[in-house]
Amino acid sequence: MQKANERKTILVLFGGCSTEHEVSLQSAAAVLQHLDPARYQALAVGITRDGRWLRYLGPAAALPGGAWQGAGCVPCTLRLDRGAAALLWLDGSGRAEAFDAAFPVLHGKNGEDGTVQGLFELAGVPLVGCGALASALCMDKDRAHKLAALAGVAVPRGAVFARGADPADVAAASAALGWPLFVKPVRAGSSFGITRVAAPEGLPAAVQAAFAHDEEILLEEAVPGFEVGCAVLGSADLTVGEVDEIELAQGFFDYEEKYTLKTSAIHCPARIPPQKAAELKAAACAVYRALGCRVFARVDLFLRPDGGVVFNEVNTIPGFTAHSRYPGMMKAAGLEFGPLLTRMIELGVGEA
Ligand SMILES: Nc1ncnc2c1ncn2[C@@H]1O[C@H](COP(=O)(O)OP(=O)(O)O)[C@@H](O)[C@H]1O
Ligand SMILES: [Mg+2]
Repeated sequence: MQKANERKTILVLFGGCSTEHEVSLQSAAAVLQHLDPARYQALAVGITRDGRWLRYLGPAAALPGGAWQGAGCVPCTLRLDRGAAALLWLDGSGRAEAFDAAFPVLHGKNGEDGTVQGLFELAGVPLVGCGALASALCMDKDRAHKLAALAGVAVPRGAVFARGADPADVAAASAALGWPLFVKPVRAGSSFGITRVAAPEGLPAAVQAAFAHDEEILLEEAVPGFEVGCAVLGSADLTVGEVDEIELAQGFFDYEEKYTLKTSAIHCPARIPPQKAAELKAAACAVYRALGCRVFARVDLFLRPDGGVVFNEVNTIPGFTAHSRYPGMMKAAGLEFGPLLTRMIELGVGEA
């Protein structure tokens, strides 16, 4: 049994077999650097782009860019026996390292979509973050929209097509939605495979780009206005950080803009009246609960020029560098990065 005054060991997973591998390296470096050393020790495990698990013993600063994969790595795997939370070294030593909770700092497929979460649920390991079901639902933009709508939150008009769909049907659905519209993979992130299509000529290439990432694609009306984010924290009782606002110059927050902010800007708090912020937070909490989220997630919504609130998507493991939006929204509400991580781990292990 763990004594109350003993430090807890947190398995921090980073990298991953995902197009968002590099983003995860940056998030995880920040998480490792900001864990409270008086309360937690990290057990860092990197997952390579091709899916190998490596126990990482080097400095957190070497994660971004991939330098971590050199020296200081030992092949490892998770012990799946229920309740025996341990990492097994696969170097012939037979070494096992016990841990108290798992914190997947992974983005996108094979990390944020419920797959890794299911593994830890099977092993009976407390998770810092959403479980398998909520993660899978939030990764799926179509199913998430359907549940948000049932919870009374407006969603964009849209249409879903599976691979092999008749191009004539896709064209007809697009014409009904109107131009511009957005074509996206049902399950992806960081704007990969997403195109803002201004006119019918652009449709075939956009559909092809979306199918490169998933078996299903979603066509969506372009929602006018701007996108806002809500940082939701909690499981039973929820707190929400300051709402932030994305100011775009080009109508699309694509991968490059997300990570360089060349022509766009993030305003935190959003430049909106307090009542509107309260309405957005309430919608975010309704979606968070409808999708079964726990511990933390960033709920993204659109605010229309007429004041209407429209759900976009939930990121169950949002970008987590010290400059990322979720920590920024929490900081604006008075919760700094280090104490935020402590609170998330407490929520994850059920101490809060
Ligand atoms: N229906 C829409 N109306 C207006 N803008 C949209 C719409 N869907 C997506 N976008 C734009 O595309 C970006 C990425 O889309 P999003 O659905 O959030 O995917 P991702 O999971 O890749 O972040 C959004 O941040 C927004 O700028
Ligand atoms: Mg998004």
